[in-house]
Amino acid sequence: MISQFIDEDVFCYVEEFSSEREKFRDLVDYAEANRVPIVSQDVARFLELLLKTIKPKNILEIGSAIGYSSLLMQKASGANIFTIEKDEDTFKILEENLEKYDSENKIKAVNDDAISVLRSMTNGEIEEKFDFCFIDANKSQYEEYLNLVYDLTSENAIILIDNILFRGYVAKDEDNKRYRTIIKNLKKFIEDVKSDKRFTASLLTVHDGLLLLRKE
Ligand SMILES: C[S@@+](CC[C@H](N)C(=O)[O-])C[C@H]1O[C@@H](n2cnc3c(N)ncnc32)[C@H](O)[C@@H]1O
Repeated sequence: MISQFIDEDVFCYVEEFSSEREKFRDLVDYAEANRVPIVSQDVARFLELLLKTIKPKNILEIGSAIGYSSLLMQKASGANIFTIEKDEDTFKILEENLEKYDSENKIKAVNDDAISVLRSMTNGEIEEKFDFCFIDANKSQYEEYLNLVYDLTSENAIILIDNILFRGYVAKDEDNKRYRTIIKNLKKFIEDVKSDKRFTASLLTVHDGLLLLRKE
């Protein structure tokens, strides 16, 4: 999908540059052919670079889809990954991909609703807190995800949230009937984060928008 707030030529130029270094071409092709939403190539390269730099040990991912970003993050960091995907059919493909590429069994995937999994994790004991979290699921629940993730992450953890600008709609005043609720929820979420002293925050115009947070 072409981002609607970046000039199309610029978008294609960046995607072409970013595609050069793709390691999981078959997953990207599968996603494209089957209309599975996965991170764009520019976000993928950004994620790799970020993780190679900060080298987290324990990653939490909300929204695995077919495992593309999980595998990408694992290979870039060497970390253990806990990832949550609620859709059953997508989860079956994810398991096949992990079987094929995660030979060291570093990625643990759970087929369930993220909110209920995160709630039970916050109510129970976890072995080690997460030092990196990637949120890439239902946009209307970002606020709830972040509040739950807060208790599961260590001091100074980095939290990255995808599609935060939602095709640029959140930055515009026009009424969009089709996506009214998502836009309203995202706008409120961004406003809340803006004044939330628990985080250092940066809003990035990479592809569909990334929100990069550091837990203080
Ligand atoms: C954009 S895709 C994730 C793409 C993946 N991170 C990647 O780049 O390879 C979002 C996924 O979140 C899942 N999802 C949506 N709401 C969810 C929820 N409440 N709990 C768990 N998964 C959810 C969807 O089924 C979908 O597969």
